[in-house]
Amino acid sequence: MYGIGEVGVKAVKSEQDYMRRSMQLNQTPKFDLTSHEESNSLIRRHESEKSRGSTFLKTQVDDSSLCSTSSICSAPICRQFWRAGNYDDRLNSKPASQNGTGYLRIHPKFLHSNATSHKWVFGAVAELLDNSVDEIQNGATFVIVDKILNPRNGTTALLIQDDGGGMDPEAMRRCLSFGFSDKKSKTAIGQYGNGFKTSSMRLGADVVVFSRCQKNRTLTQSVGLLSYTYLMQTRQDRIVVPMVSNTFEINRCNIHVDYQFNANSGTWNTLHNEQQLKNNLSILLQWSPVATEAELLKQCDDIGPHGTKIIVYNLWHNDDGKMELDFESDPEAYLSILYLQVPEKFSILLRGRVVEYHNIAADLKFPEFIMYRPQNVEGSVLTTIGFLKEAPAVNIHGFNVYHKNRLILPFWHVVTYSDSRGRGVVGVLEANFIEPTHNKQEFEKTPVFQKLETRLKEMTQEYWDYHCGLI
Ligand SMILES: Nc1ncnc2c1ncn2[C@@H]1O[C@H](COP(=O)(O)OP(=O)(O)OP(=O)(O)O)[C@@H](O)[C@H]1O
Ligand SMILES: [Mg+2]
Repeated sequence: MYGIGEVGVKAVKSEQDYMRRSMQLNQTPKFDLTSHEESNSLIRRHESEKSRGSTFLKTQVDDSSLCSTSSICSAPICRQFWRAGNYDDRLNSKPASQNGTGYLRIHPKFLHSNATSHKWVFGAVAELLDNSVDEIQNGATFVIVDKILNPRNGTTALLIQDDGGGMDPEAMRRCLSFGFSDKKSKTAIGQYGNGFKTSSMRLGADVVVFSRCQKNRTLTQSVGLLSYTYLMQTRQDRIVVPMVSNTFEINRCNIHVDYQFNANSGTWNTLHNEQQLKNNLSILLQWSPVATEAELLKQCDDIGPHGTKIIVYNLWHNDDGKMELDFESDPEAYLSILYLQVPEKFSILLRGRVVEYHNIAADLKFPEFIMYRPQNVEGSVLTTIGFLKEAPAVNIHGFNVYHKNRLILPFWHVVTYSDSRGRGVVGVLEANFIEPTHNKQEFEKTPVFQKLETRLKEMTQEYWDYHCGLI
């Protein structure tokens, strides 16, 4: 399986070689956002490649006047997620400058309350992975999940990076806005236009996104910031979301800067007017882990020809002061069953190691394949049911229910096995005829869902009655 990762690296490498030839490279980068562990071979390889051939891209903007290296981006006042939404905004609020009728107003508290839908931090990590997995159809071959160091304050940050199609400036704006989903494909996991915001804000107070995209022979890169810390500390009492994207102006929530590559001059040109660039860049450099425009461009360069790099920082803490996202506890088991099928050419790299995909259905003893026809829905669904290899000496049972390839309900207990009829019985099915809730950790409790529950209960008991003598 490791070879698959290598294929991805090779693809990145050859495209980077192509990029190097076509771009004018003229400075050596300073590397700032460092991986905690030397073991992350993929990143290491990226880095050593970068140091062999210089990667810094010339920009037409003189960054010396725009960077604010002296200001440290401070941690949010409250580091516990479940308490961070409790503040008295009457004392603090500062009127926002945009009062026009062309804007919707959303209170910054919404950023926080929207994120409370994720009770579990790994459920939030899964949303960020979903966005990378949805990029497989745009050429993604890997997604990296790792911890890195935020050089501003020495704290741990979360890195999620893929080599998918990336986002052009318009897509970046939609990514940072609420309820806009670009995904038209029936097979895409994403549908609500909400996952990025809820999950990143559930994991940490702040997130910065770097993305590179080639579309219609145009190469762009965009950097966006969603910062609860910034909104709190500058006492913004509202997030302004543009209702029509082409009336977009400087937006106090969706801070982003965009560049387009000019192949003739070999330079990155800004897509903003001078004032816009100055405003957005100064906020980005003050409130994100990157302190200079040069570092910001270096981060984009690290992506390669196309893809997206997300850094969630000022990660939330538990009441005992420890980070909620515990990198030491092993999320690998969850990640290994998160998708029903992962294409051969795609790898999930968790802290430098390829996550081995685990097909539970293929592991079952005495499997049975049962067709289920939901009422009023076309087609039927295949359920695989059987005993876990370890049965009966195992305390696990239930159904892994997927929706569009993504695990929504892990080991759903449709029966209690106090009467023993179900112990060790596990099933797997993809239920695309019911809808997941917005956090993708449950399904909507509709009558169709309830019928499915009843049928799975019967299936378990019938299976048990016929097969319990075999174990
Ligand atoms: N890694 C990525 N690569 C490319 N585009 C991305 C990436 N992450 C987010 N986006 C873009 O940002 C948009 C918003 O993402 P978000 O996760 O909020 O919503 P969604 O995936 O469309 O729907 P859902 O709320 O169901 O997850 C996506 O529709 C996609 O266009
Ligand atoms: Mg999504």
